[in-house]
Amino acid sequence: HLSVKERIDKKRKAALVGGGQHKIDAQHKRGKLTARERVELLLDPDSFVESDMFVEHRCSDFGMEQDRNKFPGDSVVTGRGRINGRLVYVFSQDFTVFGGSLSGAHAQKICKIMDQAMTVGAPVIGLNDSGGARIQEGVESLAGYADIFLRNVLASGVVPQISLIMGPCAGGAVYSPALTDFTFMVKDTSYLFITGPDVVKSVTNEDVTQEELGGAKTHTTVSGVAHHAFENDIEALLNMREFFNFLPLSNQDPSPIRECHDPSDRLVPSLDGIVPFETTKAYDMLDIIHTIVDERDFFEIMPNYAKNIVVGFARMNGRTVGIVGNQPKVASGCLDINSSVKGARFVRFCDAFNIPIITFVDVPGFLPGTAQEYGGIIRHGAKLLYAFAEATVPKITVITRKAYGGAYDVMSSKHLRGDVNYAWPSAEVAVMGAKGAVQIIFRGKENQAEAEAEYVEKFANPFPAAVRGFVDDIIEPSTTRKKICRDLEVLASKKQVNPWKKHANIPL
Ligand code: COA
Repeated sequence: HLSVKERIDKKRKAALVGGGQHKIDAQHKRGKLTARERVELLLDPDSFVESDMFVEHRCSDFGMEQDRNKFPGDSVVTGRGRINGRLVYVFSQDFTVFGGSLSGAHAQKICKIMDQAMTVGAPVIGLNDSGGARIQEGVESLAGYADIFLRNVLASGVVPQISLIMGPCAGGAVYSPALTDFTFMVKDTSYLFITGPDVVKSVTNEDVTQEELGGAKTHTTVSGVAHHAFENDIEALLNMREFFNFLPLSNQDPSPIRECHDPSDRLVPSLDGIVPFETTKAYDMLDIIHTIVDERDFFEIMPNYAKNIVVGFARMNGRTVGIVGNQPKVASGCLDINSSVKGARFVRFCDAFNIPIITFVDVPGFLPGTAQEYGGIIRHGAKLLYAFAEATVPKITVITRKAYGGAYDVMSSKHLRGDVNYAWPSAEVAVMGAKGAVQIIFRGKENQAEAEAEYVEKFANPFPAAVRGFVDDIIEPSTTRKKICRDLEVLASKKQVNPWKKHANIPL
């Protein structure tokens, strides 16, 4: 007969080894860390405060009531901790216990920390590694998912929510990560899909591997479901710490300010020659971004998806900013369905969490074609327009070269309440490129070359926009960092409120 104290110790010990040493060994053999090892790496040393270590599942079917099928803490480790001293709530699914599958108790533990995170205003990071609904529990487990989904939705825009997929995540389980702000994956060991390869084969007769169907490469290059993939558990968790440093704790808190050793008035002479003289020649927008932000530190989101637009987080004079830039290197930087959606979601995250947005514009327009029109470029392109228009955070725009057509309006133009809009001397704000314009307005006429030269003279420069006040200034590229840092300081006290509404109706 054990005393209460002995029983407590015994349960705590049991919770620490999850499904047992052989399961831990199997987890390691797959190149995966355990749920607890992951939490340790993610959080500051000794900062983890665990909750619900004694919670057990309540299933009594299929022999689940037997002691050997009970594991203190069940299949998830939950609690709170700190990343660089800042509060965060975490759950880490434990694959060593019933494959990390989600029981009613497991869901309840997750809901508890989500509720606490909302109460105090702190982000939630979920480390997903689970075989899905606990099959023995049936509807109990489905209810658990719905309880989590509801909380994901209610927390959306209130506290940042991050999912890191570190193993299987299938079926209904995928919708919690999908509802969070960012979904990251680990290469080769994680996958996300609605139904696995066997079901796919029986329904559509397609032969596809798990990796092809829902691996990190698929979701970071093809589907756009995941925002970044990392080589292994350790790299992923260390990157989560870096990423977390950019984010505010909640929509009521400012982003953390990092001590900045990069002078805010630093000139960048290389930018004066970065835009090629020939307007059809490509250059890399990332070169501009890297040289302008603090210490070249840019956390790119979705670097391998819709590469014609670049989005990510950086700092200017120590403060977090969201960067959006057209990428002339890929499809001339034109906007299409995927880049519009990628950009829109990023802009809305920044706006929800009070992160200023800096937009670099070099856009020849929207991508033409039946694929785009049939795919709904009109409603998808509208998302980016909508996102920029509704955003009330400080918005600074730099037109580096082309700002053509409707895409000019979309890219955080003055007309959408851009606070500071700059043009570089190489800027061209026009309805379209000279060649196309002349072909339309001088169709069949002689002297096309002359007309084209006239069009270039008139429109292929920053003056038509500048004389109308649609850009506030034409600036030397080398002064861009200095000017933006100064503007952000002024805009820190910006207050702008949209009209009251229950919620807006962004075209989906
Ligand atoms: N419910 C209950 N137990 C589960 C489970 C679930 N959903 N998923 C996995 N497990 C258990 C397995 O029975 C196994 O238990 P055991 O070690 O006592 O035999 C353990 O978790 C590990 O699973 P295993 O299948 O050996 O691991 P794997 O790496 O080979 O495969 C999965 C992992 C997730 C692909 C596989 O377990 C699977 O297909 N699970 C079911 C997925 C599913 O359809 N879920 C419901 C949809 S929401």
